[in-house]
Amino acid sequence: MKPAPVIEQNGLNMPVMGFGTFELDAPVVLHMVPKVLELGYRHIDTAQIYGNESQVGQALESSGVDRGEVFLTTKVWVDRFEPARLAASVDESLERLRTDYLDLLLLHWPLFGEAGMGPTLEALMKVKADGRVRHIGISNFNIAQTREAVSICGPGEIATNQVEYHVYLGQEKLRDALEELGLVTTAYMPLAKGQAPSDPVLKEIGKAHGKSAAQVALRWLVEQNRTSAIPATSREENAASNLDVFDFELTDADRKQIAGLEKNRRICKPGSLSPQWDD
Ligand SMILES: NC(=O)c1ccc[n+]([C@@H]2O[C@H](COP(=O)([O-])OP(=O)(O)OC[C@H]3O[C@@H](n4cnc5c(N)ncnc54)[C@H](OP(=O)(O)O)[C@@H]3O)[C@@H](O)[C@H]2O)c1
Repeated sequence: MKPAPVIEQNGLNMPVMGFGTFELDAPVVLHMVPKVLELGYRHIDTAQIYGNESQVGQALESSGVDRGEVFLTTKVWVDRFEPARLAASVDESLERLRTDYLDLLLLHWPLFGEAGMGPTLEALMKVKADGRVRHIGISNFNIAQTREAVSICGPGEIATNQVEYHVYLGQEKLRDALEELGLVTTAYMPLAKGQAPSDPVLKEIGKAHGKSAAQVALRWLVEQNRTSAIPATSREENAASNLDVFDFELTDADRKQIAGLEKNRRICKPGSLSPQWDD
């Protein structure tokens, strides 16, 4: 299987295909993480709120793969945005993940108190300056919030905005802004939470390439500039096929058909956390 290409900008070195771990419980993580590393994944996405950092850490350690080969992301939950709590929570994440650094640390949702996002971003930059984190980023930030974060941290500091992005959610305005600002788009729910694999249009496109609908959906994402995808699965066969998308290319006609799919199907929109989306 061809390995995933890497987004190299500003020393990021993020493989464009990662393995997501949201809603994977402890035994599944302990089973799947070593398997996906065997398959060739070198990018793992977790979060404090997923409750599985310990299992990710245990699996990484026992896998035999060098820590330096794996791009590891976690996310700070919103109740730890106060600067002292953020720093302490990063130490706790590092302990659970059995490592002394993270490749990427994200603010999980843009929920800030009266002081705004400034103090939290300063704290994020501080853990980076301390060497506990190589790169910092944001998640679920809308355009205005992304611009504000970039203006607080300075150009080149925020590596990515991790957002919902798939064949049914166009994100055009946000994508244009991220491109202008030079941020990587990390696409979460890249299979539209399991809806894309059964799409008849994607299945038909896949037939011509000897690929599945899921592979077409993922290929569509990673063919785009500065874009990575982090599909999750509890099944080895799906993990293998999700990584096996680097030996074919979509045609203009394929892309046109995908452009014709519904583009406003936002799946992840928790009322208490969601910003004003730009759709
Ligand atoms: N930053 C955020 O706020 C945020 C929010 C949500 C998610 N995320 C991240 O994004 C990752 C991915 O999102 P997600 O897990 O919610 O959704 P997803 O990856 O779009 O979809 C996962 C679903 O697709 C199925 N699936 C995976 N590969 C398949 C294949 N090849 N064929 C058929 N079905 C397949 C899985 O079922 P099986 O287990 O049966 O394969 C699972 O039900 C998460 O794990 C997490 O790391 C971040």
